[in-house]
Amino acid sequence: MNNNDKISPAVIRRLPKYYRYLGELTKMGLNKTSSRELSEMTGFSASQIRQDLNNFGGFGQQGFGYDVENLRNEIARILGLDKKYKIIIIGAGNIGQAIANYTGFYEADYEVVALFDKNPKLIGMSMRNALIKDIDELEEFLNVENIDIAVICTPKSVSQQVAEQLVQCGIRAIWNFAPKDLKMPDYVHVENVHLNESLFSLTYYYNQMNKKKSE
Ligand code: NAI
Repeated sequence: MNNNDKISPAVIRRLPKYYRYLGELTKMGLNKTSSRELSEMTGFSASQIRQDLNNFGGFGQQGFGYDVENLRNEIARILGLDKKYKIIIIGAGNIGQAIANYTGFYEADYEVVALFDKNPKLIGMSMRNALIKDIDELEEFLNVENIDIAVICTPKSVSQQVAEQLVQCGIRAIWNFAPKDLKMPDYVHVENVHLNESLFSLTYYYNQMNKKKSE
């Protein structure tokens, strides 16, 4: 096995897509696949896929292709999806509640164990099995509970301060929905999610299509 620390971020970003499509193949009852078939499904070239998987030792056999279950399990292991993760959400408004209610995370062994908010109207409510707690209890909670990932769903005006508090309490992985880049030390990994950016790209292509139609 190669050193996964040296794998480029672009490869790591493609792995979840391979994992998802291998899951589709499993559901269809297929146990063998090829880089060409994966290419048709994912839109990445077959050579790109072979190159990506070679980073981890290949997993394929000449003339046979890939064993779907084995490859999916290997990718799960590389990404760390073979473990359970405990998540907390800071900001239990629209986005925070939507994430807490999304059942897909539970299927993949991510458990939202609590939400935190400052709004007294929300504190004490439950989202699935997770309670919305007072943000003032955050530090005490993190001193006791082993939390892997924190999700920031607060207004951007407080997101940096919330992130700093989380890091002080030992959090090292932040999934940030607030539209502000967080300034964090190197040992903290932040993944930003911006639905708007995706929508804006779509808007561009929509307008390009319309332009072509009217030409
Ligand atoms: P919201 O107003 O429904 O929820 C925000 C929640 O944060 C409220 O319940 C509020 O009481 C709480 N809050 C405020 N200050 C807090 C603090 N110091 N500690 C704990 N909780 C605090 O807003 P919504 O629509 O859920 O959006 C949340 C964030 O997500 C915003 O920053 C928004 O811009 C962003 N957003 C991001 C999207 C994305 O694609 N990344 C899409 C939509 C929203």
